[in-house]
Amino acid sequence: MTQPTSQSSALSVQDLVDTAAGELAGINDTESLEAWRVAYLGRRGRLTLFLRGLAQLDLEERRVAGAMGNQAKGRLEELLDERSKSIREAQLTRSASEDRLDVTLPGRPLVSGRLHPTTQIVREICNAFMTMGFSVVEGPEVETDHYNFEMLNIPLGHPARDMWNTLWVDQQNEDGQYPLLLRTHTSPMQARVMESTRPPVRVVVPGKCYRYEATDATHEWHFYQVEGLAVDEGITFADLKGTLFEFARRLFGSDRKVRFRCDYFPFVEPGVDMSIDCFACDGEGSGCRICRDSGWIEIMGAGMVHPKVLAGVGYDPEKYTGFAFGLGPERIAMLKYGIEDIRLFYSNDLRFLSQF
Ligand code: PHE
Repeated sequence: MTQPTSQSSALSVQDLVDTAAGELAGINDTESLEAWRVAYLGRRGRLTLFLRGLAQLDLEERRVAGAMGNQAKGRLEELLDERSKSIREAQLTRSASEDRLDVTLPGRPLVSGRLHPTTQIVREICNAFMTMGFSVVEGPEVETDHYNFEMLNIPLGHPARDMWNTLWVDQQNEDGQYPLLLRTHTSPMQARVMESTRPPVRVVVPGKCYRYEATDATHEWHFYQVEGLAVDEGITFADLKGTLFEFARRLFGSDRKVRFRCDYFPFVEPGVDMSIDCFACDGEGSGCRICRDSGWIEIMGAGMVHPKVLAGVGYDPEKYTGFAFGLGPERIAMLKYGIEDIRLFYSNDLRFLSQF
């Protein structure tokens, strides 16, 4: 066998490129294309072996032949690329006409879920109190008569029970008592929290409540509340006012005014309802649909924790005082976003829900 020279190599490498190019021209599918690539450019491919064979040449010859070899490699890669593109294009054209599937159409957008408006407002409310040092706790929705009423200074037979139309879970027992119920408010958590910890107490309790009530635009038989409770030595009504005023400003804007009026809840003394001046008419009142001409909007019940409630959980009412409040997140959301019917929150209509 004669020793290979750069001249003979030049001839054979040109042959190789020609043959490869000729074969490539007849290839119309990706599998054959891959087979072609392996045959020429793969680890044991013809061009690869050729390049490896150059090692036998002497230095000068190897330099010349090496350059030719690399050029040939570049050329084959280029051809491969072009062929691969045109095969792909041909496939697209074919599938567009045969499959009647327009593969060039943009994909369908993914619809992303979002939080329910009630969840959003509950979080906003809790965040406002958390930044003022309150922690968030939750409690049972199926409650006992004991916590929902007794511990809140509402004994059996007390007329104030009529303030909460109750859904009872258990049948009335021999003593005339109904031990289990669906909580009518989040207030039972006041006693539960105080029983399990010592002062200072600062908690907010978001959660679902239930009432045996006919529904209409402003009443639901199930709804959320956020309860608040702060108990410590030396807490006064001024703390209640300051905290709730700050809360109202955070949710409804910094120029809100607040108004407290006497109200009755058996577990607070004094008890109040808190209103903000109407943000829709700026307290003007007349002709305003949001505040119904009054200039004020009630947003929650509140008051100083009744000494009997404190004593009931073993806190010394001579030493500790505190305030409590309860508000309805749906009502807050209705005011904030101009929602006119509370039933929208629980009718699962995406046309409503997707607006938030
Ligand atoms: N639990 C009361 C209600 O549902 C609201 C309230 C809570 C009032 C705390 C005063 C203090 O009507």
